[in-house]
Amino acid sequence: MDVFEAIRTLLSVRSYQDKPVPEESIRRILEAGRLTGSAKNAQPWQFVVVQERQTLQRLGELVRSGAHVAHAPLAIAVAIEKTPFAVSDASRAIQSMLLAAWADGLGGNWVGFAPMSEVGALLNIPESLEVLALLPIGYPAQAVGQGKKQRKPLSEVAHHERFGEPFE
Ligand SMILES: Cc1cc2nc3c(=O)[nH]c(=O)nc-3n(C[C@H](O)[C@H](O)[C@H](O)COP(=O)(O)O)c2cc1C
Repeated sequence: MDVFEAIRTLLSVRSYQDKPVPEESIRRILEAGRLTGSAKNAQPWQFVVVQERQTLQRLGELVRSGAHVAHAPLAIAVAIEKTPFAVSDASRAIQSMLLAAWADGLGGNWVGFAPMSEVGALLNIPESLEVLALLPIGYPAQAVGQGKKQRKPLSEVAHHERFGEPFE
């Protein structure tokens, strides 16, 4: 899939088919995260792939904004070092992973943001790291509206030369 097309069409997917995700897709998604650039090349992230149903269900209970994690074929927990650029770095890696999944016909979304210490404990993530996000991933249960986004128009967010000058 063309990069811009992937960005244009990428949407959050919160319900999934009961169909396993191929190992090679999981690996590609992880590679997309691993290969992402980070400040000073610090790579301050760790990715935990969760596929056990019981653990997914518990994650869905622990993260209130992510009950759908319980029904995903897998979720990737993204843990970060407690360093200044780690959130920015891992956010880039997350976007890379979501785009790589999308290109393979898989959907997911970013779940969480507030400290998720109970998630960390459940997954044996050391206390030197914190969980930034869970990424449930699976084949979308419904056909996704390709590119039907609710976004501010370009005229509201883009400027030309100086702030407030319209970008035509
Ligand atoms: C930092 C961040 C945190 C998010 N947290 C959640 C979340 O906890 N639960 C959820 O269902 N979606 C979450 N999302 C997904 C957004 O709600 C979603 O991307 C946004 O509404 C735009 O919708 P779209 O991705 O379908 O275009 C999060 C997204 C970001 C970037």
